[in-house]
Amino acid sequence: MITFDKTISLEEYNHLRSLVDWYQVSERQFITSIPKSIFITVGRDSETGKAVSMARAVGDGGYHLLVVDVIVHPDYQRQGIGKQMISQLMDFVHTSYIEEGETTMVSLLSAKDKEPFYEKFGFFRRPNDERGAGMSQFYTQTVKGEIQ
Ligand SMILES: CC(C)(COP(=O)(O)OP(=O)(O)OC[C@H]1O[C@@H](n2cnc3c(N)ncnc32)[C@H](O)[C@@H]1OP(=O)(O)O)[C@@H](O)C(=O)NCCC(=O)NCCS
Repeated sequence: MITFDKTISLEEYNHLRSLVDWYQVSERQFITSIPKSIFITVGRDSETGKAVSMARAVGDGGYHLLVVDVIVHPDYQRQGIGKQMISQLMDFVHTSYIEEGETTMVSLLSAKDKEPFYEKFGFFRRPNDERGAGMSQFYTQTVKGEIQ
């Protein structure tokens, strides 16, 4: 059985990230970023206590909400865990993030070929006829202050 809580250690976080080949974060980044999550859910195997999934969201508390770090351990995928986490997140949006009559923009950067998973929750792909593509860059600081 999977139980959900809101706590994760640096080791657990980086382990989940390594499973999907994402950059590792430093202790400083972890301490700074995780407590600023507007929403976080961590799935644990109740038999082992091991963190097997997570999802979180960051935002400005008003209009924008960005869904990040959606990870399900490969051994636990396709068992409905991702669906439970995004459902929890969308419940949070509906009940706690905005007030009656307001609109919020919930965004995410889908991993390749995971778009159908998110479309089930109402997300649409970009670019489309009306909107351009989402854009990103990865920047690694080698020497502080030095522009690469
Ligand atoms: C994408 C991911 C979070 C899905 O989690 P999951 O627990 O395996 O998904 P679920 O079992 O909850 O699936 C929910 C629904 O989405 C569907 N689904 C899941 N992955 C899918 C995929 N890659 N393509 C199409 N549909 C998918 C399931 O069939 C299920 O459909 P149903 O509700 O009609 O039965 C998980 O595969 C994952 O962590 N992948 C690696 C990391 C990653 O890519 N994260 C996303 C970054 S944005």
